[in-house]
Amino acid sequence: GQTLLLLVVATLTLQHSATAYESESSGSIRMARPDCPDKCGSVSIPYPFGTGKGCFQEPFDVTCNATGPYLASTRVRILDINLAMGEIRVLNPHIAWECNYTNGTNSSGSDGLTLDPFHKLSNTKNKLISIGCATLGLILGATKGKNQLEFPIVNTCFSFCTDASSVDDSKECIGMGCCQTPFPGNISSFNTGSAPLPSLYNSTNQSFSPCSYSFVTEEDWFKFDRSYVSSTNFATKYTDGVPLVLDWVVGNKSCSEATKMGSQYACQAKNSQCINVSNGPGYRCNCSQGYEGNPYLQGGCQG
Ligand SMILES: *[C@@H]1O[C@H](CO)[C@@H](O)[C@H](O)[C@H]1NC(C)=O
Ligand SMILES: *[C@@H]1O[C@H](CO)[C@@H](O)[C@H](O)[C@H]1NC(C)=O
Ligand SMILES: *[C@@H]1O[C@H](CO)[C@@H](O)[C@H](O)[C@H]1NC(C)=O
Ligand SMILES: *[C@@H]1O[C@H](CO)[C@@H](O)[C@H](O)[C@H]1NC(C)=O
Ligand SMILES: *[C@@H]1O[C@H](CO)[C@@H](O)[C@H](O)[C@H]1NC(C)=O
Ligand SMILES: *[C@@H]1O[C@H](CO)[C@@H](O)[C@H](O)[C@H]1NC(C)=O
Ligand SMILES: *[C@@H]1O[C@H](CO)[C@@H](O)[C@H](O)[C@H]1NC(C)=O
Ligand SMILES: *[C@@H]1O[C@H](CO)[C@@H](O)[C@H](O)[C@H]1NC(C)=O
Ligand SMILES: *[C@@H]1O[C@H](CO)[C@@H](O)[C@H](O)[C@H]1NC(C)=O
Ligand SMILES: *[C@@H]1O[C@H](CO)[C@@H](O)[C@H](O)[C@H]1NC(C)=O
Repeated sequence: GQTLLLLVVATLTLQHSATAYESESSGSIRMARPDCPDKCGSVSIPYPFGTGKGCFQEPFDVTCNATGPYLASTRVRILDINLAMGEIRVLNPHIAWECNYTNGTNSSGSDGLTLDPFHKLSNTKNKLISIGCATLGLILGATKGKNQLEFPIVNTCFSFCTDASSVDDSKECIGMGCCQTPFPGNISSFNTGSAPLPSLYNSTNQSFSPCSYSFVTEEDWFKFDRSYVSSTNFATKYTDGVPLVLDWVVGNKSCSEATKMGSQYACQAKNSQCINVSNGPGYRCNCSQGYEGNPYLQGGCQG
């Protein structure tokens, strides 16, 4: 009789905890470490990212406050984290600008962004964009080649217009009031600059467009608006920054080396695989085909 009673109690307890677990995770696979918050505001924070001690792997420390989540290493705000693609979207506040009024020059060089070694600027999702008339937009950075030798990169684009009629009105960023350019991979620190070209820029001619802006942003997000050339609409709309896509790796070894690292190997889930990344050295993990969840957690990939 006592055994039966114990069995009934045990079953009830099990049922109860299963229900509690389900309601807590609302039926989906848990993406954070046990006892760690899996969200900051409305943004999901999957491991290896995490908030608080024991909840993240270096350098994926996330600070969460009333404004939202921030990547602690670079203090940029996180918009979303994509585990399957190895991407993180952040707000890039580093917009270079210069305003040249007929009555004098106002300028701000804007410092750039320096990422930790596990994050790289995505060269497939972002572009350098420059807005202005007779404006040279610049991205200055350093990239590492095959043998890890560092060499500098300077990519530029030039936007030209003399009056409102010479600004493109198709919302395309093709050189008339706005220009864009790609840049190579393996960039983990960069500066942007925005400067009128003195030999072509005449503040009297171009007084309708005193300000220029240059920044790196997510290409698919950006839509040029001709009012950005002749007003401060752009600056007032994006005071917090513009979206930027970063690629990340969970370790700086290649897959063939990482798989030999035992407990240090980051792909902890059973049905997971290692992926060599193309943007810089290192690897990340994915759930094997037919499984989904978080490959960085034990039991994280479920069929
Ligand atoms: C949240 O943290 C970020 C980065 O440290 C800071 O810029 C922001 O002002 C903070 N927000 C609040 C409401 O404290
Ligand atoms: C990783 O998994 C996701 C979802 O299953 C898939 O879309 C993506 O192509 C995979 N990435 C690679 C490199 O296999
Ligand atoms: C220069 O002109 C701009 C635009 O008209 C104006 O906002 C600014 O106050 C002027 N600055 C000075 C120093 O007169
Ligand atoms: C330009 O800079 C001067 C001096 O720094 C400042 O007094 C003025 O308000 C600025 N004007 C504009 C339009 O930003
Ligand atoms: C900005 O405008 C001022 C005044 O018109 C001019 O002296 C200066 O050369 C201009 N700067 C550039 C970089 O063209
Ligand atoms: C500025 O205007 C003058 C007179 O209209 C013109 O000759 C000159 O080419 C213009 N400069 C630029 C850079 O467009
Ligand atoms: C700019 O253009 C105006 C009008 O065309 C002209 O008077 C002035 O000399 C020019 N300034 C420069 C620096 O070229
Ligand atoms: C790889 O990462 C480790 C520790 O995070 C660091 O000590 C090492 O210098 C890195 N190696 C390279 C080639 O970046
Ligand atoms: C990853 O790269 C290493 C060396 O760069 C190579 O030996 C290995 O086969 C690659 N692994 C995968 C899964 O692509
Ligand atoms: C980036 O780095 C990796 C590994 O160090 C290298 O194989 C690749 O060629 C580099 N890519 C570029 C565009 O430099």
